Amino acid sequence: MKKLGILLSGRGSNFEAIARNVQAGKIPAEIGVVISNKEEAAGLATARQMGLKAICIPSKGKEREAFERELVAALREREVDLVCLAGFMRVLTPYFIREFRGRILNIHPALLPSFPGVEVQKQALDYGVKWTGCTVHFVDEGVDTGPIVCQAAVPVLDDDTPEALAARILKEEHRIYTEAVCLIVEDKIRIEGRRVLLKK
Ligand code: GRF
Repeated sequence: MKKLGILLSGRGSNFEAIARNVQAGKIPAEIGVVISNKEEAAGLATARQMGLKAICIPSKGKEREAFERELVAALREREVDLVCLAGFMRVLTPYFIREFRGRILNIHPALLPSFPGVEVQKQALDYGVKWTGCTVHFVDEGVDTGPIVCQAAVPVLDDDTPEALAARILKEEHRIYTEAVCLIVEDKIRIEGRRVLLKK
């Protein structure tokens, strides 16, 4: 059984959606460890309530690589196969990417390559797009630039606020993150250049 390592910094709703689907047998994998860089992250408390191995590795005041060496050690100790970033608010260095090359996923609340970065629901509203959505992608050295595994679109409504739009997108995030994790742990995809394709 493949092992997932979840990295988060906050609320943890994407983590929780994955964890519930693991529990329900909808994702054929187990969660090896949940790591937060912030002790106060709600997702860490949820993970502990669910009986999962959940630890805090503080990032504050540490050199980037020193912090990441601790992350890598914890993930290796638990023999993690796939790292899922779930609201993890740190950009990873090439060192970490190298250690888990091709085995790191992220969820982003926009249709990449539109609106990378932060506050992206507000960016989408301000730009005036009629559709936005979410993207699960592999993580490479750039910010939100890796090959795309799954996307889902949601409409932007005239009376949307960033919060209302974020909530509509979040529902789809929870659905497609599980879909993407399944595709990978079931070994159903291959990567050709930037394209993630289904194996024949
Ligand atoms: C989500 O919108 C995700 O797309 C972004 O950060 C947010 C995390 O939310 N990367 P949660 O902590 O999973 O609830």
